[in-house]
Amino acid sequence: MEKMILNGKIVVRSDISVDVEDRGYQFGDGIYEVIRVYNGRLFTATEHLSRLLESAKSIRLDLPFTIEDMESQLNELVRENGLEFGTIYMQCTRGVSPRNHAFPAPAVNPVYVAYTKPLLHSQELAKTGVKTILEEDIRWLRCDIKSLNLLGNILAKQKAAEAGCFEALQHRDGMVTEGSSSNVSIVTDGKIKTHPATNLILNGISRQVMLRLCKENGIPYSEEPFTTDELLAADEVFLSGTTIEVLPVIQIDGQAVGDGIPGVVTRKLQKLFRDEVIKQCGPAKHAAPIE
Ligand SMILES: Cc1ncc(COP(=O)(O)O)c(C=O)c1O
Repeated sequence: MEKMILNGKIVVRSDISVDVEDRGYQFGDGIYEVIRVYNGRLFTATEHLSRLLESAKSIRLDLPFTIEDMESQLNELVRENGLEFGTIYMQCTRGVSPRNHAFPAPAVNPVYVAYTKPLLHSQELAKTGVKTILEEDIRWLRCDIKSLNLLGNILAKQKAAEAGCFEALQHRDGMVTEGSSSNVSIVTDGKIKTHPATNLILNGISRQVMLRLCKENGIPYSEEPFTTDELLAADEVFLSGTTIEVLPVIQIDGQAVGDGIPGVVTRKLQKLFRDEVIKQCGPAKHAAPIE
């Protein structure tokens, strides 16, 4: 029987229901995380759990859990569910209270849930690369918070899906921010550029891993905003994210990126990222290595 976490306890998933007055359900008043599991091991768990606590702090949500407690319980959940390759989805809302915009007073207990989902490596897309569209970034000004409010992201992603594309690359005032569910980087003359970790983007954990790998391997990079013109003229463009790792972009609004195939720097980063996964979690039986 599939298990999940509810408020710090491991329970049977089918026993759980959502209260219609949960503030996450009514207002999107909460935060979430997605952690990747390879070989039954959590990848960059501390980084994700630290960001969860940061997000909670940013929305003034007090969580009565430590990173250590959450991590050991997530490990237990992964074992109980026999999850080898997949993701853990976790979210915390401000709790259940009669509908009213202001915080419940007195405060109610937050509602914390976590569950697992199987996922194998998407080798096909990693090899071929993906098509994207450019889309205006209509989101709020705290995109650094991993908030449950994802309407801007959802509308952008849907537009991409309807155009037969994988992702929407968002831009604000002519500057590229991030994908609807990923960070975006460009490569020009061998140098990587990605938006700095400001309030306008989510500081992706995969983005951070990618930048560390650049640093360790002497790949030049800078965290600075770039324009849509720079994006369209870049030699290479790639996305990063927990479920996609490093993913080449081969087309934007029907226009080829570079030669229209995944570029050398992107492929090198894919390999470095995969090596990092293997270093932390062991080799993935189901994944063909990226040549
Ligand atoms: C808007 C947005 N940006 C960036 C990312 C990438 O973040 P991470 O690498 O932590 O998964 C995500 C992931 O879901 C996202 O939703």
